Amino acid sequence: MPAICVIGAQWGDEGKGKLVDILGETADVIVRYQGGNNAGHTIVVDGKKYTFHALPSGVLRGVRSLIASEVVLDPRQLFDEVEKFKTDINLGIDPRTSIIMPWHNDLDNIGEESRKKSTGSAIGTTSRGIGPCYEDDKNRSGIRFYELVGDPKNLEGRIREVHDTKKRILEQVYNVKPSYDIDETVRSYLFLGGYLRDYLADVSQEVGNALKENKKVIFEGAQGTLLDIKFGNYPKVTSSHPMSGAVFDSVGIPPMKMRTVGIIKAYVTKVGSGPVVTCLDNGLWPVDESKSNFEGNYIRNKGGEKGTTTGRPRRVGWMDAVALKYTHRLNSFSDLALMKLDCLSGLDKIKMAVAYEHDGKVTDDYRSWDLKFLSECKPVYEEFDGFGDISSARRYRQLPKNARKYVSRIEELVKVPITVVSVGPGREETIYRNFKKL
Ligand code: GDP
Ligand code: IMO
Ligand code: MG
Repeated sequence: MPAICVIGAQWGDEGKGKLVDILGETADVIVRYQGGNNAGHTIVVDGKKYTFHALPSGVLRGVRSLIASEVVLDPRQLFDEVEKFKTDINLGIDPRTSIIMPWHNDLDNIGEESRKKSTGSAIGTTSRGIGPCYEDDKNRSGIRFYELVGDPKNLEGRIREVHDTKKRILEQVYNVKPSYDIDETVRSYLFLGGYLRDYLADVSQEVGNALKENKKVIFEGAQGTLLDIKFGNYPKVTSSHPMSGAVFDSVGIPPMKMRTVGIIKAYVTKVGSGPVVTCLDNGLWPVDESKSNFEGNYIRNKGGEKGTTTGRPRRVGWMDAVALKYTHRLNSFSDLALMKLDCLSGLDKIKMAVAYEHDGKVTDDYRSWDLKFLSECKPVYEEFDGFGDISSARRYRQLPKNARKYVSRIEELVKVPITVVSVGPGREETIYRNFKKL
């Protein structure tokens, strides 16, 4: 099958970047299809760390890298990212992509403050203006990439026109001044439009043609399924669809069969608020390490679980097979890549939730929409004996028996084969089990 989709099966930061980079070796095209620079995808090559926020993780391989229509694009941030990789970048951006403007950042921050005031709990967004930009996109007032790189006079008119409305909202509804200067914004976006002009590409047509020619295409998901705007833990979610079905809508190609690889960590993490049934941090967001379980702090430290985009400590929990069965149902994973298994080594005992207990009843019904229900659920754990250092294992049989037992149990519960076991951040720190590249 020439098309493959890489999907976060938990709450993001599962290690999608590493897997996309591995698959990128034999790919012709890599497409980012949702989210924006709220994402942070890390790749480690020869000990050097590269982080991508908007660029597809394929740029390091020199592969044709495309940004599809449902991405929200911040040209200020993209400029920095493009400058870093400029010499060998092969980038195309769809004209229909909506552009993040400075008022989106302001409205994102104000939205968080109001949520905190009215409900006592903010979402914990990345402050990148993601939600407000999707809002404008859906109400048809967004500025698109086509306009950014088009006629400068028209662009200036559009920026000033939308700013007038946003300024009134900021000042008259929220009683704050815009944090940006409009003349400076116009100057900077006119410059960015010129700078990015050559990257304009009809991604729908290009990917359609590539698939017809049997070229190898990767669709790179951002975030994770439990952050999906509809099927995640609404409202503690992002504003896009990080699921496999969303590929077709965003790219503009008809539905077709594709392989869908689910990326999971050997445990779970979540940045931001919302229920995590297996949480080892007393459910607290932001994390207060003095109130976390020993295992929560141990895994967070070993896994370097701090946000790539915002630097915030991520909440940590044991693997949740109930949630994973749910995300498998939504995505239909053909295989799973189990990342960061090395970060569990050294623990005496490892746990995995195989069911929840609620009100005296055992269930494996993941009611993603009912946050009260989820916050009342208690995990029903299976316990596993721990294992020592596995970072030098390169074949499955080199893993200790206890580590293999843990891997097999996940496969058994979710009923999907685990074809990749990752034991370190580097490309080579990877075990393959009947894993087919493209
Ligand atoms: P993404 O957003 O899904 O691409 O994931 P992030 O890049 O935000 O977070 C994953 C982090 O774990 C990155 O720093 C990776 O370099 C690192 N990583 C990936 N796989 C492994 C692994 O198997 N072991 C360890 N120790 N680190 C890993
Ligand atoms: P990658 O692609 C983890 C979280 C934020 C917040 C919620 C909404 O690296 O896996 P937003 O700024 O999108 O409106 O914030 O979603 N979030 C992520 N968490 N990994 C990500 O991306 C995320 N992108 C957004 O922390 O809780
Ligand atoms: Mg990340």
